[in-house]
Amino acid sequence: MLGLKASTDPAFVLRFQADVEAMLLDHAHCEKKAAATALNMLGRYPDHPGIVDAMADIVDEEMAHFRQVIAIMASRGWSYRGCRPSLYAGRLHALCRRGYREALVDRLLISALIEARSCERFALLGAQLDDDELRTFYGSLFASEARHYATYVKLALAEDDEASVRARLDELLTAEAEIVRLGEDAPKLHA
Ligand SMILES: [Fe+2]
Ligand SMILES: [Fe+2]
Repeated sequence: MLGLKASTDPAFVLRFQADVEAMLLDHAHCEKKAAATALNMLGRYPDHPGIVDAMADIVDEEMAHFRQVIAIMASRGWSYRGCRPSLYAGRLHALCRRGYREALVDRLLISALIEARSCERFALLGAQLDDDELRTFYGSLFASEARHYATYVKLALAEDDEASVRARLDELLTAEAEIVRLGEDAPKLHA
């Protein structure tokens, strides 16, 4: 899906169901982080109107997702609190190249990959969870994360020639597949 080079282990749905509270908490943090990353891009590249407009929209949408997740948690008696960030995003961001244009393209492509992986996982959850409310919820998030993926790739393509952006996307997709295989030792949406 969306060019990803490793498919999520179907046992991911079972891991989610084994600790729904921890997974929802991690998901809430992922949405907050997605909004914060978009806000950071907006601040870092004020002279790129395409980026500023798209990031403003994404900040709003990710915060709406964040509020949806914490509302579901609250309805189940679970409170939002801190949680250790997943290693996944940090490992991806470590691949960011130096140099103004290279770093800009990489930041956009890394965000695209995180959206693509979220999208793939939400599709699985939206199809297979045994909890009706959560299955419907994840099914409803799938489309917006797919749109965010497409937005980030389109913005990256506008910053350099198409062949080099696509070659870099392919390299990062290969690296992302390796990072997903490393996994994590805690219940995480991207583990
Ligand atoms: Fe989101
Ligand atoms: Fe997103």
